[in-house]
Amino acid sequence: MKLFQHVTDIGDLHTALQEALEVKNDRYAWDSLGKNKTCLLIFFNNSLRTRLSTQKAAMNLGMNVIVLDVNQGAWKLETERGVIMDGDKSEHLLEAIPVMGCYCDIIGVRSFATFQNRADDYEERILNQFIRYSGRPVFFMESATVHPLQAFADLITIEEFKRKERPKVVLTWAPHPKALPQAVPNSFAEWMRAADVEFVITHPEGYELDPQFIGDTPVDYDQMHAFEGADFIYAKNWSCPGVTRPEQYGQILNTDRSWTVDDRHMAVTDNAYFMHCLPVRRNMIVTDSVIEAPTSIVIPEAANREISAQVVLKRMLQSL
Ligand code: CP
Repeated sequence: MKLFQHVTDIGDLHTALQEALEVKNDRYAWDSLGKNKTCLLIFFNNSLRTRLSTQKAAMNLGMNVIVLDVNQGAWKLETERGVIMDGDKSEHLLEAIPVMGCYCDIIGVRSFATFQNRADDYEERILNQFIRYSGRPVFFMESATVHPLQAFADLITIEEFKRKERPKVVLTWAPHPKALPQAVPNSFAEWMRAADVEFVITHPEGYELDPQFIGDTPVDYDQMHAFEGADFIYAKNWSCPGVTRPEQYGQILNTDRSWTVDDRHMAVTDNAYFMHCLPVRRNMIVTDSVIEAPTSIVIPEAANREISAQVVLKRMLQSL
């Protein structure tokens, strides 16, 4: 594997889930695969889970790990070509990326949407430069539009907890005080469509996700109706994707707290498990009562981030 961005990069999902299970059963079985190999993790944005789980996964494989927080201690990077660099940015990404490639074998990058320009975000201008100029396999640790390590971990978690062959999985929008990217819901939709689940999305009008990710997934604007009979509730906020009105891209269009997932919502499900990628704002996205219930699986979900990262790194090491 040279690139991990979309669900298609992992190949057959059944095989990938089997591999995840093998890794989980004995995560140190490949501890010499990464000997003398270096994994470079580059963060343009904050992280807790991605940072720790990916480092742990690399260490499980015997790799050396270097973590670079671009905005803390590195030179400020210019990302636009053609800019006269007379401001506070000392180095251009076009030099920095191949230099980073010199010091490692595999690169993971986190770079969120900036919301300045929908086209730039959806063209993945930063990550595509890493793919083009680093000379190394690149895996996405949440980009402007996707978070595949999260979606893979979510799928592993659903596989582990499902009580029926083809569970009903509902992705629900929930309110949040800050404008958040669409990367998590985009990837979750992409991976759920590829999985053997009944998948439904619910959100207020105006939050329609990009068709390249959701395809023909049913969208129900009635949240309570969507929750009926659900086996898994996956809550997430996202800002306006700007699909129908690009000028609204990245805006908060709705703050309706009736969309906060509470006991009233969960009561109409089939005793559904509650999922969220974390970090989560309690009593905005989900009530204390729902996230603390025995059916909340946010912690096992986060734990599976180590497993999804290890499968991806293992495959990248095997293809070096
Ligand atoms: N879910 C997730 O990616 O968490 P972090 O932002 O803390 O890495």
